[in-house]
Parts: sequence; structure tokens; C-alpha cells
Amino acid sequence: MKEILRRVFASNRPRPALAGVRGFAHLSDWSGPAAPKPGLGGGLRFGLSTGGGDDGDPSRFSRARGGGATYHRSVLLEEATHYLEPAPGKLFLDGTLGGGGHSEALLRLGAKVIGLDQDPAALSFARARLDQYRDNFGAIQGNFSEFGEILETVGIRGLDGILLDLGVSSHQLDEAERGFSFAKDGPLDMRMNPDAEVTAAELVNTCDEAELARIFYHYGEEKASRRVARAIVQRRGRKPFSTTSDLASLVATVLRGRGKSHPATRVFQALRIAVNDELRSLEEALAEVPRWLRPGGRLVIISFHSLEDRIVKSFLRRCSAAEIDRPEWPEPKANPERYFKVLIQKGLAPAPEEISDNPRARSARLRVAERLPTAVSKVDQEA
Ligand SMILES: C[S@@+](CC[C@H](N)C(=O)[O-])C[C@H]1O[C@@H](n2cnc3c(N)ncnc32)[C@H](O)[C@@H]1O
Repeated sequence: MKEILRRVFASNRPRPALAGVRGFAHLSDWSGPAAPKPGLGGGLRFGLSTGGGDDGDPSRFSRARGGGATYHRSVLLEEATHYLEPAPGKLFLDGTLGGGGHSEALLRLGAKVIGLDQDPAALSFARARLDQYRDNFGAIQGNFSEFGEILETVGIRGLDGILLDLGVSSHQLDEAERGFSFAKDGPLDMRMNPDAEVTAAELVNTCDEAELARIFYHYGEEKASRRVARAIVQRRGRKPFSTTSDLASLVATVLRGRGKSHPATRVFQALRIAVNDELRSLEEALAEVPRWLRPGGRLVIISFHSLEDRIVKSFLRRCSAAEIDRPEWPEPKANPERYFKVLIQKGLAPAPEEISDNPRARSARLRVAERLPTAVSKVDQEA
């Protein structure tokens, strides 16, 4: 693996800023009953991370008190809230706090919420927006891939629900200086955590051609990945890339006249996924879920592209099958990782009215699973 990608994996994750968490002490009173221990598998894997930079000053976001639509319009809000079944006495993890819209729906119905986000701007906004719920709400900067470690640190032992609303917020996309959008000129950045080391510009200017092509192909499903990578490497030899519009126009020249969406859509998606190590974060978070959900607790995940949805779908399939089978076995065996009942078999899409109201919702898919009371134990499996 190339040194630059090793640095993304090693450092583009914030160390949870636990020491500076406002209202941190009250979270440990919420521990409640512990979740059941998974039978086999589901081992802990923690990544490395860097420090966070939230200044914790909610006045910077006073408009948050008027509601969150200016920051981000929550997608599949009613559906996610319905499946999470919030109620007084229940404790939820919102692993992608963003503008706090989903958290607010849970808090309004009397539940307690711990919100995580790796972007300090999201934390500041959501804290201000949800200030009235401060006795039931705590916000922590961190990567959801490390949620288990974070919850342990604040003394939580189990959860009634976990929500992951993946990807970036509208605020992140719309702020030109965050560098996520090919439609807005800004620095080629794309870090959700602004303290992370590696920016999209660094990837584009230093990865070799084959590595760039792999990123575009695997994370963007870009069929012309090699052509785009070659053109980037040729151009950067004369002048390195530093802005979003510079890269977007180079890609548009290479892929001229293709499809309805902007030709750079897939390349930008691929770079964002690589810079933020998004797929690995999702896999690591999923591996932790069985250990944290109490029996009957719900996992709700909203994904926005097929790469994420595929990971969620195959995780739920693996962890809900009653039996597993292999060609070399005489007969199927009970699945030692049967932690969930899947509540909706196909990913739920937003209603047409939501899509016409908020076109950014169009690719969203929601999946839901419920934690079964106990995992099949090793003893059962061997009997
Ligand atoms: C789609 S927005 C969430 C919007 C939120 N549900 C709402 O209703 O306002 C996704 C948020 O998750 C954050 N995020 C994405 N991946 C993350 C990760 N691995 N760890 C922590 N936060 C993450 C982003 O910074 C962004 O603020």
C-alpha cells in the first residue's frame, strides 16, 4: 500500500475529544443494563486518530436555534424515527450527528441521545440547536468507527438504538472552502475532520497513476478510471492541482459529453471516500454494533450510494441468517453470528414527495435490523 494511503488510514480520524466535552459527566449516569455479549466474532478493532478542534462555542451557530434546515435537511426523518422507536428511558447513539435533525426527533420524544461527529462544525451547530435538551443530550467529536471505545470511556454499557446517516451534510457540501463540491470553487480539501492530515489535493498530486485509477474505480465505480488517472498525472507534472474547479474541469475534458450528471461526480465521490476512509469506518462500526445493542434495540442505517449499501446489506445478511453452509460441510450449521432480525428486506427509499422536496435524498436507502435477545453461543454451535 502506498505511504499516502497508509497516512489516511492511520491519521484521518479524530481522537475523541473527551476531555473537552460539555456536559460529559452526566453521560455516565445513563449506563442502564448492559447489552448481551456476542457469541463469536464481532471483535474490537480501533483505528488511530488525531486530536479534534471544536471550540465548543455554540454562539457561532446561533441560527441553529431556529431549526436545522439551513445546515442540513434530514433525510428519511419520519421513517428513521419510526423504526428507532424513541421513548423516555431509552438511550440512542446518533453516530452522524450533522445538523442534529435526527437527534432532535429522538429527543423530542423523550429519549436520551449521544451524538458523534468527526466534524467540529457539526458539533457546534448541533449543540446550539439542541441546547434545550441538554440534560438528555451529549455531543462528542469522534469517528463512529471508534464508538465502542468512546462509549466505554463515558461509562455507557448498552444502547436501545444506533443511527448512522452516512456521508456528508449539505453544510459540508455547500461550504466552498471545505472542498467537497465540483460545483463550487474552493481548495481541494474534502476532509470531514479538518484536523486530519491528508487532503484530496495531496492524494491527487502524490498518488501514482495506478493508485489513483484504483481509487476512482473502487470508490467511484468510474469506468474510465485509468484514462482520468493518466490525464491527472500528465497535468500535475506541469502544475499541481489545488482547487475543486481545476480538477473538475480537467475531468470534464477527459469525460466530455458523458451521462446526465457532471462528469466529475464519480471522481469526487471516490476522492471523498478515500480521504475520509469512509468504507473502512463503516465496516469497523458495524463490527461493534452487536456488542452494544440491547435485546430489541434497533440499528438504522441510511446510505447514499451502492458501495455503502452493499456493505450494510451483506453485514445484515451475515448476522441474521439462521444457518450457514459450506460445500465441504455435510450439513448446514447454526450461525454463531446470528445477532439480528432484519425488519425490512429491501432498502427503503424516500417517498417521491421527499425527493421532489429535497433532491439530495434521491439515492438514500434505509435499512433496519433488531438485536435478537441472545447470540447463539459457542456451546450451542458445537452441540
Ligand atoms: C448526512 S450528515 C448527518 C445529518 C444528520 N442526520 C441530520 O439530521 O442533520 C452526516 C454527518 O456525519 C458525519 N460523519 C460522516 N462519517 C463519519 C464518521 N465516520 N464518524 C463521525 N462522523 C461522521 C459528517 O461529518 C456529517 O456531519
